[in-house]
Amino acid sequence: MIVAARAPVVVPSLLAGDLARLGEQLDALRAAGCAWVSVDVMDGHFVPNLSFGPDLVRLAKKKGFYVDTHLMVTNPLEVTPWFVEAGSDIVTCHVEAVPDALAALKKIRAFGVKAGLAVKPKTPIDGLIGVLEHCDLALVMTVEPGFGGQTFMPDMMHKIAALRRAIDAQHLNCWIQVDGGVNAVNISQAAAAGADSLVAGSAVFAAKDPAAAFRELGLKARDAFGSKNQA
Ligand code: DX5
Repeated sequence: MIVAARAPVVVPSLLAGDLARLGEQLDALRAAGCAWVSVDVMDGHFVPNLSFGPDLVRLAKKKGFYVDTHLMVTNPLEVTPWFVEAGSDIVTCHVEAVPDALAALKKIRAFGVKAGLAVKPKTPIDGLIGVLEHCDLALVMTVEPGFGGQTFMPDMMHKIAALRRAIDAQHLNCWIQVDGGVNAVNISQAAAAGADSLVAGSAVFAAKDPAAAFRELGLKARDAFGSKNQA
């Protein structure tokens, strides 16, 4: 029985967007009721890929979105102010990239934005569980970070359930976010496990109609949440 979870929200990841027409795609998503998008920042060191800088956050803010910035970089606290200045609402760093997760969360919040903490698949969530009251978003990666279009790891659901229990027991207002390979087949499983922010890149932007895909994913996630809460 989920106690305090909110109805889940689908969060398109711009990593999978079509850069040649991303503005149109964002307008269509906004018109379909999407209010929150995720920007993946990769530095080629923490992950073997390079992606975006603060300008993509500026574009998403100009289009009226709430933006979470997922820093997959080795120096998250150094680059945080760049993304705060660009308009990020949440800045998420990886527990694997900081010596002290609690200090990192406090530092991000000190910039006046919400603070997120992410764990890779091989990283236990112990480092997350202990600092939840200082955390606005707990991100469970369901793929090895670095690339979109990978396959969802269902064996990460235990981390979501453990976070759900800890957050509900402490009556905290912390989002549980899942990122990686989320699609129409597995989104119900993630929502039922207790995730309330579901990042989807390819499942939205590789669809013929991304706005329709966004709506369908949201319906499935909320159905799963609803049925779980009736249990
Ligand atoms: C991995 C990225 C991806 C992306 C979502 O580092 O964080 O998980 O956001 O892409 P899909 O939904 O295509 O896996």
